[in-house]
Order: sequence, then structure tokens, then C-alpha cells
Amino acid sequence: MWENKFHISPKKGLLNDPNGLIFYKKEYHVFYQYNPTSCEHRNKHWAHLKSKNLVDWEELPIALSPTDWFDKDGCYSGSNIEKDGKLYLIYTGNVKNNGIRESYQCLAVSEDGINFKKLGPVIFDKDIPKNYTRHFRDPKISFDGKKYWIVLGAQRLDLTGTVIKYSSIDLINWNFEGEILKEDFGYMCECPDEISFDKDKALLFCPQGLEAKGILYNNLFQSGYIINGDEKNFCELDRGFEFYAPQTFKDKNGNNTLFGWVGVAEELKDFPSVAEGWIHNLTIPRKLILKDNKIFQQPHENLKFLRKKSIILNNFFVKEKVNLKDCSISGKTYELIINFENLNKDFSIEIKSNRDNRTLLEYDYLNKTFTLNRENSGENLKGVRKCILTTLSKIHIFSDNSCVEIFLNDGEEVFTANIFSEGEEIILDSQNASISSIEFYEI
Ligand code: FRU
Repeated sequence: MWENKFHISPKKGLLNDPNGLIFYKKEYHVFYQYNPTSCEHRNKHWAHLKSKNLVDWEELPIALSPTDWFDKDGCYSGSNIEKDGKLYLIYTGNVKNNGIRESYQCLAVSEDGINFKKLGPVIFDKDIPKNYTRHFRDPKISFDGKKYWIVLGAQRLDLTGTVIKYSSIDLINWNFEGEILKEDFGYMCECPDEISFDKDKALLFCPQGLEAKGILYNNLFQSGYIINGDEKNFCELDRGFEFYAPQTFKDKNGNNTLFGWVGVAEELKDFPSVAEGWIHNLTIPRKLILKDNKIFQQPHENLKFLRKKSIILNNFFVKEKVNLKDCSISGKTYELIINFENLNKDFSIEIKSNRDNRTLLEYDYLNKTFTLNRENSGENLKGVRKCILTTLSKIHIFSDNSCVEIFLNDGEEVFTANIFSEGEEIILDSQNASISSIEFYEI
């Protein structure tokens, strides 16, 4: 019943981080952290799918299983690169003996993009530089034309989190190149990813252990970025409830594109889909754009291929509550775009709404605050998340059976959340809102 229609989710078992994202031999490959046997965080494999268009996915055999001495307690997160026509995958082998962790950065290779042969560790546990603990993982690889680079999440011996770098000319021999983050970011940083936009560089990473500050850092773990090394201005990527461990790749047009995990590594008791034997999904692919030192995230243009029946309303005025079902607009799985004309009043929209449940999106015009309220959204998951937004010009929603992604002002802010509701109604409310267009597409 909660199985998603267009978000990548496992049929059985647990999904977490997206891994090894790449456009290789004219096809997109997505891997993810996968426990095929239960909904718990253990027994991590790499599940694998491919697609020609980023929206229709074909499931492939599991790429990596934790069967060797160097990864026996989990084939943890990592990434992919093409070299001499082959796909090289670098990941963290997690080993635990009597509760003591060891971390190995390991290589695997594939000639056909489907079958992977493990080549074993290239950075051994014993070679972890002495300033760091064994929390040393999640290599993200890149090539600068001369050298290969990986960034890794690490924990210093004083139990603070950072991101470090290694370089290599052959993928086999790696040299430690020092820390990228100088400040302390919580007690550990996971899943770093360094990307460039023309002249600017962004470092995406996931600090664990940041304290909540008002409306910031309200989830258990954070996921955000800094631009050009400006560590003072760490900015969260997503303002919703479930979003973590994103990874980027270049799509076939060279655009930085991101998938995230719609989840946080929290033991979620009574997570509704567990009764169906599966848990978690990935986000839709999002194109990243840098504007004034801020990353905007937009739904990848190929999501248009999912559109089925459409209803377009032009010049729509909201002066009191309107249920869009009066215009034949309602549903569980859809894309909805609302374009405002100089909104200067409060505005709210309920989605996944019925007699008992509603997920409320509210814009408070005076306080310039946008709120996602799922206190009464449906089964089990609750809470409120907010962000500051100086104007509201566009709301763009992707609604799936148990997941929503809400893009504001062409990706200036994004809210991602799991919602378990059978409600299908969409209700707008304002004292005076002039909407230039409402576009609704069934998916
Ligand atoms: C992030 C993470 C990574 C690790 C993986 C294990 O969610 O904890 O640091 O490689 O998940 O599944």
C-alpha cells in the first residue's frame, strides 16, 4: 500500500545511502546501501539499478555483498569512476571483531557495468593516519585530468568530525593529502562530496552531532554544504524531516545532479512500511545550480517523462478555502506546480488530505517563514519543520505514495518528508492570493 511509484525503493529490506552514481556507456547507474534480509541497519550490500533516462529503472543483480574478510560487516558507501572503459568502484569495507571497528577502502571493477570483481583494500585499516579513529569511510572519487582524488569522512582522535583527502595516479596507491575541513563539525562527518560549478567549489557533507539552533539542525543528523571553503557558512541542503547522505554525479549534459536518501539513521519505531517488509527510498534526481553562493535544487528535467494526464488552470484567485477536487485535481501520485503573482498575504496548502489527515504547508508572509507541518499527516510520523523565505513565488510538489518533495522558488529551499496518509485532497487557503498558473500532472 505504501510502495512508491516513482521513487527508488526496495521491494523488501532496507535502503540507505545512494552510492556509485554514474553515467556510464550511455546509461545511468544507481547503487544504494541495501540490507536485503530485514529493515535494520546491518548486512549492507550494494543494490544496483540502471536507466537510460533517470526515471525508468531496471533492477540489476546485487553488485557487492559483504562476503570477504575486508568487508564482512558491511560493504559501506562509496562511489564510481570510469577508467579505460571499465567501471571502478571504491567503497568502505566495514569490519568488526569483538566490537572493535576496522575500516578498509576497497576497489572493485566491472567490464560490463553489471558484474563486479572485488580487488580488495587499497587503503588498509593499519594505514589510517594516526590522528584519526576508525570512523573513516565513504570515499567519493573524482579525476582532475592528472590525478584521482577521494574525499573521505573522518573522525579526529579528539572525537571531532572532519573531511580528508587522498590522491592517486593509478587507483591502487593512495597518498594522504590532509584535511579539507579545519573546524570541528560535530563528532563525525559522513558522505563527503566535492563538486565544482564553473569557478566555484562546493563541499557537501553530513555532520553528526550538531546541536539544534532554533529552526536549524532539527533532524538527528545534518546534511549540508559550504562554498569555496567558507566553513562559517554551513548551509543545510533540505529543510524537511528525512534527508541524508546525498551523492552527486554529472548527468549526460554535464549538470551536477543529486540523489539523497529519504531517511536519517534513526531507529524509527513503527515506521509504517516496515509492516510491508521494506523501509526507505531515494529522492528524485535533482539538478544543482549555484546562485549567489547558494545551492538551488531543481527536479531533474527528465521527470517530465513521468507526466500523465494534466490539468492546467490559469489566473486562479484564492480568497477562501478551495478544494481543488472541484477542479478535478486530487490524488496520491502527482506533480503539482503553483506559480504566484506577487504574493503578499499568508498562503497555505494541505496535501494528502482527508477527513482525518492533512499535511500542511504554510507561508507566513509577515514573518517570512515557510512551514511543513505533519502533526496530523497520517500514520506515526509527526513534527514541524520551518525555513526562512523572503518571498514565495512558486511551489513545486512531487507526491508519491509515502514520500513528498516540495521545491520552493525553483529550488531555493526544499522540504523532503515521508508521509503515510491515504488522503488525496489538495486544499488551498488565503485571504487574497493571485496565482498565475496551477499545473497538475498525474504520475
Ligand atoms: C551514512 C552511513 C555511511 C556508511 C553507511 C552504512 O548513512 O552511515 O557513513 O557508509 O551509512 O550503511
